[in-house]
Amino acid sequence: MDTLQLTNQERINELIKMRELSKLAGGEKRIAAQHAKGKMTARERIEMLLDDGSFEEMDMFVTHRNTDFGMENEKYYGDGVVTGYGTIDGRMIFVYSQDFTVFGGSLSETMSLKICKIMDMAMKMGAPVVGINDSGGARIQEGVKSLAGYSEIFERNILASGVIPQLSAIFGPCAGGAVYSPALTDFVLMSEHTSYMFVTGPKVIKAVTGEEISTEDLGGADVHARKSGVTHFKAESEEEGIMLIRKLLSYMPQNNLEEAPVYKCSDPIDRKEDILNHIVPDSPNIPYDMKEVIHTIVDQGEFLEVHRHYARNIIVGFARFNGVSTGIVANQPNYLAGVLDCDSSRKAARFVRFCDAFNIPLLTLVDVPGFLPGSGQEYAGIIIHGAKLMFAYGEATVPKVTVTLRKSYGGAHDVMSSKQLRGDFNYAWPSAEIAVMGASGAIEVLESRKLAEITDPDEKIKYMKEKEVEYKEKFANPFQAAALGYIDDVIEPRNTRFRVIRAFEACQNKKVVNPPRKHCNIPL
Ligand code: HXC
Repeated sequence: MDTLQLTNQERINELIKMRELSKLAGGEKRIAAQHAKGKMTARERIEMLLDDGSFEEMDMFVTHRNTDFGMENEKYYGDGVVTGYGTIDGRMIFVYSQDFTVFGGSLSETMSLKICKIMDMAMKMGAPVVGINDSGGARIQEGVKSLAGYSEIFERNILASGVIPQLSAIFGPCAGGAVYSPALTDFVLMSEHTSYMFVTGPKVIKAVTGEEISTEDLGGADVHARKSGVTHFKAESEEEGIMLIRKLLSYMPQNNLEEAPVYKCSDPIDRKEDILNHIVPDSPNIPYDMKEVIHTIVDQGEFLEVHRHYARNIIVGFARFNGVSTGIVANQPNYLAGVLDCDSSRKAARFVRFCDAFNIPLLTLVDVPGFLPGSGQEYAGIIIHGAKLMFAYGEATVPKVTVTLRKSYGGAHDVMSSKQLRGDFNYAWPSAEIAVMGASGAIEVLESRKLAEITDPDEKIKYMKEKEVEYKEKFANPFQAAALGYIDDVIEPRNTRFRVIRAFEACQNKKVVNPPRKHCNIPL
């Protein structure tokens, strides 16, 4: 069409037509195929994610530049990704959403340029980026241009890390290079049964190693939520996943120079909960559910758990105290007695670092019998993984409040936001036991010579019991630590919410700066 001959109205009509074409992307047939799989289109996902009518699209007329394999004859406006900006609860967000109806959402040079433009904008404006992934990976027809495009995105993910929040939703295939951009972001969410992530797919695995495995078992949402921990969240549907992203963002600031939004709190800050006085069983070996404690003390009982299915011996997630967004890390006595192992240490370390990077205060609830002993854990590198958590807490400069509910033994005591790792307020319940190790283990070590001399088994047990009582009187309480000032106060459990809120209030103007350096060298 000779646009020079067109009237202004005809030009406007042409624009409207081009927009319609861009919105149709790969065409009605492919859109129907997408729906038939129980998946939304790229645009439908964005519409659901953002506040009504707030989406402004960019680069909708971009087309690929490839002329190999007859590709010059197959072009679609937008080239497989919808990008732009809009708001969530009135706050600016940049977004990209891969469009599976165009070459399976595969990544071309121009698609990379579109995504990079969005990421650069988000960095410039100091706003989060949400990436919705649904892609067959590198666009095969473009060869190394596509690989280079991925690296351009990776580099931006890396430079944006700790500056703006980056969230990845996986709503379709995500193979090869496509998994690494999400892995570089702060939070990953997968939809059940319609998404998967793996570096190499089942066919390649079979060819190389002979192993036969289904797509779902290799890289489905359930596997990554429970076993690998690659995904922080799994959602039953895309809708649920999108609502979760909106909620998750409400706990975060726009960037590392801001604070998270403070919500109006109608929950009384001095709410006393008698149930907490009875929640810890009298016997130290009987478990209880730490989540009950969390739900009882936070605003309106609302807790957004992160990594719910992975390393369940530690709980991490977001809540609010008097309207202020707070990261919670808590040992879970209900699962493996709340012991620290490789996976739980890594899980919590990453969460602590996210909160610290984005000025979100940390509450740590301690009931930990120690690090999990055994060759399995030692060979898996518990030393290095435990050190990650210690490093993360010791490095963190955000307000840190710690409450020890029951056990706090050995190295795990030091790691779990102890006073000496710059904990600001460290409280304990009267049921706290703070010591190098539990009574029976301690007596085995301290009394080994004496115990070897006692031949009568009944005598031996009697002697051990006596020694354990002696040991417990000295250490199985919070008062030795309180006498030394390592615990700032022993508090009544029912009053925990109020004491935590007061402690965070006292931290409001906290300023701690770490020594200048290029970057730290956290034990990876
Ligand atoms: C170009 C692709 C494509 C790709 C899919 N398509 N993947 N086009 N490059 N990588 C196209 C198909 O030709 C098809 O086009 C349309 O997208 C839909 O694909 P189908 O196969 O019909 O869909 P489905 O059966 O749902 O299977 C989806 C799929 C499969 C599982 C993603 O397409 C697939 O295995 N694709 C290849 C995945 C892959 O190996 N990617 C490279 C990873 S390596 P039509 O015209 O028919 O609609 C990598 C390296 C990056 O990414 C490294 C960076 C560090």
